[in-house]
Amino acid sequence: MGLLDVSNLRAGYGSVPVLHGVSMSIEEGSNAVLLGLNGAGKTTTLLALAGLLPVSDGDVYYDGEPLTGSPGARVRSGIVLVPEGRHVFPALTVRQNLRLGAWTVRGDSRRFRQNLGEVYSIFPRLGERSDQLAGTLSGGEQQMLAIGRGLMASPRLLLIDEASLGLSPKLTEQVFEAVKVINQRGVTVLMVEQNAGVLEQADTAFVMQQGRITVAGKGSAMLDDEAVREAYLGS
Ligand SMILES: Nc1ncnc2c1ncn2[C@@H]1O[C@H](COP(=O)(O)OP(=O)(O)O)[C@@H](O)[C@H]1O
Ligand SMILES: [Mg+2]
Repeated sequence: MGLLDVSNLRAGYGSVPVLHGVSMSIEEGSNAVLLGLNGAGKTTTLLALAGLLPVSDGDVYYDGEPLTGSPGARVRSGIVLVPEGRHVFPALTVRQNLRLGAWTVRGDSRRFRQNLGEVYSIFPRLGERSDQLAGTLSGGEQQMLAIGRGLMASPRLLLIDEASLGLSPKLTEQVFEAVKVINQRGVTVLMVEQNAGVLEQADTAFVMQQGRITVAGKGSAMLDDEAVREAYLGS
């Protein structure tokens, strides 16, 4: 049994189905990747796991228990989503943005300082810019801030939606590297990506097509499989 076990998950928007029975298992401590082209249903999957979208069928187990709580309860239990598009608060400083992510540790000032120190050690650039308004950061820095804000909630399972979107290859590499460090420090990670370069660091990879998982395996094996890459990833 994994930290997260999803079986036959179905969800959509109104009467329009998008996920047609998604199944995947994510081991505690692993770095997992969900790859797929635009419109495959990756964001929909994360929204359903975060409790932000109703599920019409299927089972999700987290830490051995059925996952049914409100979005807030899920965050408190350690499931933290870093949403697609970053959504930092532009008129607030870096530090204020980070503080907003820390609502689950409200009242625990030691934990807050510990998490803040952790974020600044993983993203030194955020430490250097802690008093800068988030809206004046570069795209890469805003992505780091969005991930850092997620870390402030003490995640056990971090869901990261398309961190590389719109970033240069160099910044993408930096962000992927940071996620690798976060995983090495003990956080289970599920990254959603269109960039197959992420397979290099993935223990487990799932390919999603039209609301279904069509390939699952080790990230490194998939990276080497030209046929899989051409057929499913468009690269
Ligand atoms: N709010 C929405 N209302 C209706 N349909 C949506 C909405 N968001 C996404 N969709 C549709 O759901 C499908 C999957 O979208 P999404 O999960 O965002 O894909 P991905 O993240 O893989 O690019 C697409 O066909 C998209 O048009
Ligand atoms: Mg998406």
